[in-house]
Amino acid sequence: MAESLAEAVSRRRTFAIISHPDAGKTTLTEKLLLFGGAIQLAGEVKAKKDRIQTRSDWMKIERERGISVVTSVMTFEYNDVVFNLLDTPGHEDFADDTYRTLTAVDAAVMVIDAAKGIEPRTLKLFEVCRLRDIPIITFVNKMDRESRDTFEILDEVEQKLALDTAPITWPIGRARSFCGTYHLAKNEVRGSDTEAQTTPVNGPQAIADRLPENERQHFVEELELARDACRPFDREAFLEGHLTPVFFGSALRNYGVRDLINALGEFAPPPRAQVADTRTVQATDEKMTAFVFKIQANMDPNHRDRIAFVRVCSGKLERGMKARLSRTGKPMGLSAPQFFFASQRHIADTAFAGDVVGIPNHGTLRIGDTLTEGEDLVFQGVPNFAPEILRRVRLEDAMKAKKLKEALQQMAEEGVVQLFSPEDGSPAIVGVVGALQLDVLKERLQGEYGLPVSFEMSRFSVCRWVSADQPGDLDKFVTARRGDIARDLDGDPVFLAQDGFSLRYEAERYPAIKMVAIKEYH
Ligand code: G4P
Repeated sequence: MAESLAEAVSRRRTFAIISHPDAGKTTLTEKLLLFGGAIQLAGEVKAKKDRIQTRSDWMKIERERGISVVTSVMTFEYNDVVFNLLDTPGHEDFADDTYRTLTAVDAAVMVIDAAKGIEPRTLKLFEVCRLRDIPIITFVNKMDRESRDTFEILDEVEQKLALDTAPITWPIGRARSFCGTYHLAKNEVRGSDTEAQTTPVNGPQAIADRLPENERQHFVEELELARDACRPFDREAFLEGHLTPVFFGSALRNYGVRDLINALGEFAPPPRAQVADTRTVQATDEKMTAFVFKIQANMDPNHRDRIAFVRVCSGKLERGMKARLSRTGKPMGLSAPQFFFASQRHIADTAFAGDVVGIPNHGTLRIGDTLTEGEDLVFQGVPNFAPEILRRVRLEDAMKAKKLKEALQQMAEEGVVQLFSPEDGSPAIVGVVGALQLDVLKERLQGEYGLPVSFEMSRFSVCRWVSADQPGDLDKFVTARRGDIARDLDGDPVFLAQDGFSLRYEAERYPAIKMVAIKEYH
């Protein structure tokens, strides 16, 4: 019998992993896919990274700097639950991409290095999750190495993130003596995930016997204290984002990963309701709705294609269906939606709310776009951040100005850079959040369009979107400051300032003008 929409939705979990670089996100991703049956051998995720790197020119940057630039989605099924794992770039220069990806998830796994605790990037990403009330499951990784005291780690999460913790498992031993975890509620010992065995136990002493003699007493005392002092898991508090269940393990050595997958299935929420301009859309609403949170070009250089990643928010997306693109009001055929697995993609015949599919297109879709079955509705909340760096692009071959214009337009539509066209007709300005994005732009202009470019300082360093309650006020401002006004890709006006000081000065001079650093796509 065909699965009902409600059933399909209820078994979907869409999540991302947030962490500081080096905490073990790639290793954990690989193990999740391995145990989820999506890959045969551990090592494919990294191997895949390498393959892509050698295939594509601009990815050289990634290889040279050893960072992961690409965001992608990986789907796998485990114990009848469909998991959509959205990968995010680790480097902070690509933060805007990461933030947009987090708008498409319902839960996050926070990976912490057991020796380092909460690191800066973890903190930042956590704050983004908190803004969106995304529930978080914590995985304390690298327990096979020298680590901090377990209570100290829990305490740090509570203090630095103002987040209650509820350890679900407790590590048995640390560093060299680490040999598994103890499930506090189920009273079971977990060995390695590859054995996939759990053993019921009779009291802490029996567990402690697995440890070297000099560590046993400490373990027994610690467990007793944990039972007394730690909070029990409270799902409500977790779903509201006030409490995080904590798991301990080692992604590299296969400890704790199965418990983590089970927790995602058991605790993490099914697809959430999404706020649109006209109403709140429930995942189980019959009609299909979806939004684009990411565009990626040339994933497969043989096809030179452009994939829009859409998160299905309600209903069922079916291959061949006609959707309505809200920005233009025009129909769009979805002839070849795709699912992504670890190393392959497949045509998606049917995708349900919560799923993420790739839609090949030639520039029709932009970040923030909404697709529906006809309803005029626009999802809110996919953010666009004011760039921190503004530059003019200098062409080595002035004859190719038109080609550059087209290329920049495409890059901007993909979200690689932001593009601002000054009202006074002077050459366009590109804006990025992190300097590495400029490197990517340069490489891609050269590699994909044969355009060697360099960047010149612009006289501006700050940029804000401007609006006013009274259209007349905005018109007056735009006319008065014409030399400092540019239009973004959507034609929305931005005010360009030399520095923070002149920005504040102008803001005071024109109190009717709202100047914002974050624009939500519409
Ligand atoms: P990231 O994506 O968060 O940046 O981290 P990644 O998984 O690449 O892991 C960073 C390093 O930490 C890797 O070592 C990885 O093998 C190691 N690692 C991950 N999980 C564990 C763990 O549970 N225990 C231990 N001991 N190490 C772990 P590397 O030497 O930098 O890379 P590689 O040469 O092994 O690939």
